[in-house]
Amino acid sequence: MVERAGRVEGKAAIVTGAGSTPGPGIGTGKATAVVLAREGASVLLVDLHPERAEETRAMIEAEGGKAEVFAGDATRAADCEAMVRAAVEAFGTVDVLVNNIGLASLGTVVDTTEDAWDRAFDVNLRTAFLACKYAVPVMAENGGGSIVNVSSISALRGDGTVAYSAAKGGLVAMTVDMAYSHGRQGIRVNAVAPGHITTPMVMSVSEPGAHADFMNTMRSEAGLLGTAGTGWDVGWAAAFLASEEARWITGATLPVESGVLSVTPLMMARHLRGVPEPGE
Ligand SMILES: NC(=O)c1ccc[n+]([C@@H]2O[C@H](COP(=O)([O-])OP(=O)(O)OC[C@H]3O[C@@H](n4cnc5c(N)ncnc54)[C@H](O)[C@@H]3O)[C@@H](O)[C@H]2O)c1
Repeated sequence: MVERAGRVEGKAAIVTGAGSTPGPGIGTGKATAVVLAREGASVLLVDLHPERAEETRAMIEAEGGKAEVFAGDATRAADCEAMVRAAVEAFGTVDVLVNNIGLASLGTVVDTTEDAWDRAFDVNLRTAFLACKYAVPVMAENGGGSIVNVSSISALRGDGTVAYSAAKGGLVAMTVDMAYSHGRQGIRVNAVAPGHITTPMVMSVSEPGAHADFMNTMRSEAGLLGTAGTGWDVGWAAAFLASEEARWITGATLPVESGVLSVTPLMMARHLRGVPEPGE
């Protein structure tokens, strides 16, 4: 029988935004951290809300995995520097970095305020820039590593979230640029682009009830598979890209979206039209 180690056995990982907005289901960062731990990594769980990261730690430890919590604001350089230092102190190095923090921002160029624009860039892009700034030298010194940036299909298709989309597009651009700059240091840099998944964060912005159920069904029906996506789908994809099994993949953006980027909207009309609207 072939003995099989975990995909990231013995690796040291940092996941930013490793907590999850409270509510049923699981966020992408929490799921990624749990999958990485299941696959053998020690994981530093970074979150602005440490009580959320503590829940992730409890889940990992209940399964026999290893994790530490780091409370910090990843929009701040000092916190990112301290975060990388904490990972090195706890686990010896940094092999994997998953930049998962994100915040949606609705609006067009006309109605988006300058503050909302800056906030979207701070939370979605600056956090990844700063985390990489301090993690890359450690990875380079160690002979390599793997970085996964959590972007969005909003970077690739219009949906009325100009600041969020531009920041998530920036992550895709950062992914290819870093893949170029750090490839010879053995550092792979990839992104995942989640689609219309259902996470507690998504559910938290709408009242539970008929309309939320309708939107959940629409999110499922918009994809080719007609099924709901969750934080786990992103976690599995991110863990694969982080692992040695993806050793020859760099600069890629992997859509995790039930194929919504592979079809013209017209062809999905019959599926979406068939969903009864609330009150009908
Ligand atoms: N949910 C979706 O449908 C969807 C779709 C596409 C992309 N994404 C992306 O997936 C990622 C996670 O989404 P989610 O739905 O799991 O969200 P979530 O809000 O549940 O998780 C994000 C975590 O990041 C933490 N965080 C926020 N700002 C931080 C900061 N400055 N420093 C440290 N931690 C911070 C939050 O406290 C939270 O625990 C985001 O990047 C999001 O843009 C989500």
